[in-house]
Amino acid sequence: MKVIVVGKGGREHAIVTALVESDSASEVFCYPGSDAILEMAKSLSGEINDVESLVKSMVDEGIDLCVGGEESWLAMGLADKARQAGIPTWGPVQFSSQLEASKEFAKEFMVRHNIPTGGYDSAEDYESAKSAITSYPTVLKFDGLAAGKGVAICFNESEAESFLDEVFIQKRFGDGRILIEEYLEGPEVSVIAAVADGEYQIFTPARDYKRLSDGDKGLNTGGMGAVASRSLISGELLDQIEDEVIRPSVEGLTKDNMDFRGFLYAGLMLTPDGPKLLEYNCRFGDPEAQAVLPLIKGDFAAYLMSAAKGNLMDGLIDFDKGWSICLVLASAGYPSSSRSGDVINGLDLVDGVRVYHAGTEKNNDGQYVTNGGRVLAVVGHGETRETALECSYTESEKISFDGNQRRSDIGRLHF
Ligand code: AMP
Ligand code: GLY
Repeated sequence: MKVIVVGKGGREHAIVTALVESDSASEVFCYPGSDAILEMAKSLSGEINDVESLVKSMVDEGIDLCVGGEESWLAMGLADKARQAGIPTWGPVQFSSQLEASKEFAKEFMVRHNIPTGGYDSAEDYESAKSAITSYPTVLKFDGLAAGKGVAICFNESEAESFLDEVFIQKRFGDGRILIEEYLEGPEVSVIAAVADGEYQIFTPARDYKRLSDGDKGLNTGGMGAVASRSLISGELLDQIEDEVIRPSVEGLTKDNMDFRGFLYAGLMLTPDGPKLLEYNCRFGDPEAQAVLPLIKGDFAAYLMSAAKGNLMDGLIDFDKGWSICLVLASAGYPSSSRSGDVINGLDLVDGVRVYHAGTEKNNDGQYVTNGGRVLAVVGHGETRETALECSYTESEKISFDGNQRRSDIGRLHF
């Protein structure tokens, strides 16, 4: 079986690795990939500049299964076009991917299907957004894909005005509406399910550490690490999340005639009033994938192939009962900026962990250097949280580059 993964970051490196390790994937491709990913996956030939030309190259190569990693391709209709060309695709069609691409579409879906979420209003201009804010803190969200930058938690009027100015005056994210959401508090958990035509399977729950610094302080980032384990939350809580969020979401897709074959990611906040859904994503989380996928046992490629054809065969995979801890190493200046070209040392010294590349490239001397904000994810495994912590921290310390930033409390902060 020839499989292609579409994307280029740490999540795609983890997906490609899981597929390469599967018995039934004889050849794994990645587009656009990265230098590190293309050490284990093949690149696609042909001139590719949009979804159509990507799908054409996939057909020319005889690809059997397409796996959508990055949301932007799915939102542009990757699944629709690949499926029309006869390639089973894991990742939802364009219409259904609005659950991620439009926050208003997602909120309306949640309300329609009685899925617990915070209250909200929406507005299409500065003045109506301003008058829709009734108290502080308030959460303002641009209604479109904004690479994680379109959300502002505003504690006072001047913070709200400055975000509204970015959205409506500077048009930093382009044209679009805004959501004004009730501010919720509590720990966050990510529950990701594989969904195919009304069937689902819940993967190992994870927690993403979004803030830059220890103690959940500092700026919001794309994720400074993640922890995953079946024991991360209690069985009762996971059952509650399944009953109140996952199953109603999957049933809602069926009721609304929304074609969905792919990962459905529920970003939840565990509030004192119970779990509430903050957002859906239509693909695996990053960096949750880097923590969760190493826990999978079985033939992941056969599983995705069957699910992409509409037949979710949950017996094809199983999940390790232990813990996985993913530590992100970020470059100087991240998240406000990033620094490229810093030589990464020690990659060959680590042992017993997985190292996924998110923002690296090879320089002319063949050395890996930084090439982006989040650079690497070092993932350790253990039967217990303590052994996983020991393994990931000890090994990650062997890797260094100038200006690197990392947290020292990933997996230590518990619910
Ligand atoms: P989103 O892209 O919608 O998941 O938002 C990104 C992050 O903003 C979430 O992971 C939360 O940390 C925070 N956030 C989003 N919505 C809310 C909310 N209603 N109340 C408090 N924090 C929120
Ligand atoms: N970890 C959050 C996301 O992938 O959107």
